[in-house]
Amino acid sequence: MSHKITYAAIDKQVESNSMTDTILDISIKNKIPHLHECGGNGVCTTCRVRVLEGIQNLSPKTQYENVSCHARKWDPSIRLACQARPKGDVKIQRLIWSSGEVNSLQKELVPTGLAEERPIAILFCDLRNFTNLSSRNLNFDIAYMLNKFYTALGEPILMNNGIIYQYVGDEIIGVFGTTGGTAQKNCEDAIRAALGMQYALDFLNRSDLKDMDIKLKSGIGINFGNAFIGHLGHPTHKQFSVIGDPVNVASRIQNETKATQTDILISDTVYENINQETVVVGQNFLNKLAGKDDPLHLYELIGFNNMDLQLELQSSMNVMLADEDEFARIFYDKVFKAAPFVRNLFKTNMADQGRLLTHMLGGIVYSLSRPEHLTRGLAKLGQSHVQYGVKEEYYPVVKQSMIETIDEVLGENRTEQTMNAWNAALDFVIDTMKANAKPRPQPMHA
Ligand code: HEM
Ligand code: FES
Repeated sequence: MSHKITYAAIDKQVESNSMTDTILDISIKNKIPHLHECGGNGVCTTCRVRVLEGIQNLSPKTQYENVSCHARKWDPSIRLACQARPKGDVKIQRLIWSSGEVNSLQKELVPTGLAEERPIAILFCDLRNFTNLSSRNLNFDIAYMLNKFYTALGEPILMNNGIIYQYVGDEIIGVFGTTGGTAQKNCEDAIRAALGMQYALDFLNRSDLKDMDIKLKSGIGINFGNAFIGHLGHPTHKQFSVIGDPVNVASRIQNETKATQTDILISDTVYENINQETVVVGQNFLNKLAGKDDPLHLYELIGFNNMDLQLELQSSMNVMLADEDEFARIFYDKVFKAAPFVRNLFKTNMADQGRLLTHMLGGIVYSLSRPEHLTRGLAKLGQSHVQYGVKEEYYPVVKQSMIETIDEVLGENRTEQTMNAWNAALDFVIDTMKANAKPRPQPMHA
């Protein structure tokens, strides 16, 4: 007996005749991209769906789902796709489309009634000469440009465990560590985000904004300290808020980048909390900030000392996957040319398969900052590949084809460091997949 699973939003209906497959299993079998960062282990919640019809046709909630629902105060219509097994027709909607969205969901873990101080890193990024640009361009062009700016520069915040907290005029504010993390991790995440934002802005100027003859510049200030986190506002309209002196100081540090003609300035509290050997700082300043009695020590951040794997992967990913279908097409052409005998392992439409692959590659880069999810996800992928008939000896040809594709697609944006980073990342992905290439034990279910 088969049942129908309908995916709202993409208006797709598939059939399943298994009583044991989860919704996630059904998505993967039907090549429907479905984020599953922890590989279906019930801990990341990225596979969550809203059940629009037929909730009674799903298996009861598992213990993992009860934990997530309780912590995030979900209404009963939300289920984890990797835990819920359809026994009849259901209509669902996937709730998370991109890995970047996952980070913003951290706000869910800040309970509505919470009002407490937490040690966080705060990043202010300002678009330079915005007033000048506004007076010289049409409103629609300005809106287009701002959206490009917010998107390109927001991604590095999200990729580094941060939350895009607010846009104030032409400023983006990112916060790191609202749900925990050590002082060192929160400060290092903020630093990596700042350097990634510089890279993203440079690429934006060279790509989308090139034809508009606009060259954007930014200034970034980062501070670290105890800030108040909670929900503030009228009882009918409360907003997630981060307030306190460290936030005000971060804003003023950003302002100092204009007077000091620097791109990124970090406070001494940030500098004290990071591994100083890993970064290159330029000038340092003892500046009195507006509204402060004592001068503050500020450091100009130049970059990382050695290749930072995460920054290289993050900064190249958007360029590399700018046209995901093209990336996948080039990659599979290379694989099938180098190893024609693997072609018949692939059962379905290669365009759909390509989308799953690029979705997974993007997810891997985003989840570098959540290694506990990433390793579980890759372990599951390794097990599935045994079932697809993939043998250990096929991996080198796939790796080589992937490296050649990255090299080709990056073109003039390719650097030796970027290629080294992708080499190392693919080795890690493949080693983790191979180490876990055992069939998955069938879960116990009701
Ligand atoms: C870098 C390592 C690899 C990654 C990240 C990767 C990624 C993926 C992803 C995301 C899928 C979609 C299904 C799923 O999520 O389970 C998939 C399916 C598949 N992969 Fe891979 N893969 C890798 C290596 C390989 C290798 C070495 C082979 C051997 C030729 C291979 C052959 C296949 C096949 C046959 C399928 C199923 C296709 C179908 O059902 O039509 N993959 N892979
Ligand atoms: S919770 Fe379902 S995939 Fe992670």
